[in-house]
Amino acid sequence: MSLPGPIDPPARLLMGPGPITADPRVLRAMSAQLVGQYDPFMTESMNEVMGLYRSVFETANEQTLLVDTTSRGAIEAALVSLLEPGDCVLVPVMGRFGHLLVEIAQRCGAEVHTVDAPWGTVVPIEDIAAAMERVRPKVLAMVHGDTSTTMMQPFDGLRELCDRFDCLLYADVTATLGGNPFPTDAWGVDAATAGLQKCLGGPSGSAPATFSARAVEVIEARRSIEAGIRDDGDPVTAHPIRSNYLDLAMIFDYWSPRRLNHHTEATTMLYGARECARIILEVGLPAYQERHRLHGSAMLAGVEGLGLEVYGDRASRMANVVGVVIPDGIDGEAVRGSMLRDFGIEIGTSFGPLAGRVWRIGTMGYNARTDAVLTTLASLESVLRRQGHPVPAGGGVDAAMDVYGGAA
Ligand SMILES: Cc1ncc(COP(=O)(O)O)c(C=O)c1O
Repeated sequence: MSLPGPIDPPARLLMGPGPITADPRVLRAMSAQLVGQYDPFMTESMNEVMGLYRSVFETANEQTLLVDTTSRGAIEAALVSLLEPGDCVLVPVMGRFGHLLVEIAQRCGAEVHTVDAPWGTVVPIEDIAAAMERVRPKVLAMVHGDTSTTMMQPFDGLRELCDRFDCLLYADVTATLGGNPFPTDAWGVDAATAGLQKCLGGPSGSAPATFSARAVEVIEARRSIEAGIRDDGDPVTAHPIRSNYLDLAMIFDYWSPRRLNHHTEATTMLYGARECARIILEVGLPAYQERHRLHGSAMLAGVEGLGLEVYGDRASRMANVVGVVIPDGIDGEAVRGSMLRDFGIEIGTSFGPLAGRVWRIGTMGYNARTDAVLTTLASLESVLRRQGHPVPAGGGVDAAMDVYGGAA
């Protein structure tokens, strides 16, 4: 085998549902040299990261930290640490990622119940209430924004509902955190997990997460420290959390002043996650969310300006991804292929029942920018016309420009 050359990716504008183009500041932070895991610089950086993400999650939760994994691993860490085999969990499902929560909870050995809504809609709170009344779950596990459909589940009233049934509230905020309001404490959420690769503007591989005192109590009751790093008096239980790597009780100990030697820190990812949060908090969370609203609205107007239909219930959309119904007679993959090959722009397809029916176009993190929106719309117009689909000349860019008030 001849030696491959150094990595040299082509220039791309990632305008899909995530991952998106990483902010160059994050990449620069990630090129910083390593220090030892327990170097005072490192432990201070870990403490800084906890503080930064408390602001991003709008929480006072002590246990706000990074799980060294992609988002899916953090979902698994939350569920495997909260749920014991036989525990009852209720999962509202409105898209692919609801199904993922079901799958993970089943593998935890939980008794899983679902309440389903058609894709392109969200689950009505009355349906969730009725299901809770019926199954009395220990955990209500929700996807906040289901990237597969672009729908965002309202959280109004969920805390009251959970209080009524003495239930923990978990949220997967991978797709929404940073770009849409998610005030963890105000909404009474007990556990929330995210990822860097969407609105937070970084690469995947680190998962910011936060846990309320109530969730921590449940997790700590299951604490069992592995042999070799266990101190006298440390608990060992017969039924420990069913994953070692994703055992949040040990991960909490690693992030605490105790600094339990659970795993080797993904230092480079921590540098990246730290910079993602710094970028957000430098402009301020409300302004950062407003940026997503503005550029998301411009993309939506642009798509409609091209005469295309927006997928799903308008009132329930997340700000940062728009679903576009692929017009009849158009080969969605051919359009995506030409966007990538000819313009260097990636847009997304979707999954399951939406595969081949819907494109997903993101405006988030570093790519929540006027030039990224306008370039994508201009390219899409050109590709559609060349594929034989009639589009109003300049319709997409003009409509987006109107949203920007001509100031773009
Ligand atoms: C809502 C949601 N949850 C979970 C995931 C899984 O994330 P990862 O691929 O980083 O493990 C994704 C990924 O797109 C997502 O959009």
